[in-house]
Amino acid sequence: MKALVVYESMFGNTAAIARAVADALGSHFEVTLAETRAVPRAIGMDLVVVGGPTHAFGMTRPGTRADAVRQGSAASADFGLREWLDGCPTLTGTPAAAFDTRMSSPLFGSAAHKAHRRLRRLGCVTVAPPQSFRVAGTSGPLLDGERERAGKWAESVAQAALAATHNA
Ligand SMILES: Cc1cc2nc3c(=O)[nH]c(=O)nc-3n(C[C@H](O)[C@H](O)[C@H](O)COP(=O)(O)O)c2cc1C
Repeated sequence: MKALVVYESMFGNTAAIARAVADALGSHFEVTLAETRAVPRAIGMDLVVVGGPTHAFGMTRPGTRADAVRQGSAASADFGLREWLDGCPTLTGTPAAAFDTRMSSPLFGSAAHKAHRRLRRLGCVTVAPPQSFRVAGTSGPLLDGERERAGKWAESVAQAALAATHNA
């Protein structure tokens, strides 16, 4: 059984959550962990998990990524989760889930909600509600306990994906 965890991250916080998710999924799946800009292939996977930072209430855009660079991100601003999903082929019946990182206040919105909808439009069977993990500020850090919570969330995603596969 193969799982893909694909993420974008401007300041490293979503990357840290993606690593925690990949580690937990590793008990059940052979996991590929890849950044969106590596354009990993999602076809043939038994589970696809996508994650990105929340920017301007949703998934990042070129302009918001450029803003992040102006605020000190050393990441490349050229290709994010939105663009990866734009280029993703139909994934009919593939179990999938989405997560994001975001601040608890004063801003709201969730990239994961938007990505979740996009996964469904690609034909995925979403096996968990979109999940958010919290950062203290634009560049982080993650709030205490969020890595551990990501591991637990990933375990529940794995169980739901395995159940969906067996019932298919
Ligand atoms: C341009 C920009 C817009 C943002 N907009 C939001 C937002 O609408 N809601 C929110 O909760 N956080 C917002 N944030 C904070 C990001 O969610 C935070 O930087 C991100 O979770 C950090 O993850 P990363 O280290 O993986 O980039 C924004 C950050 C930037 C740079």
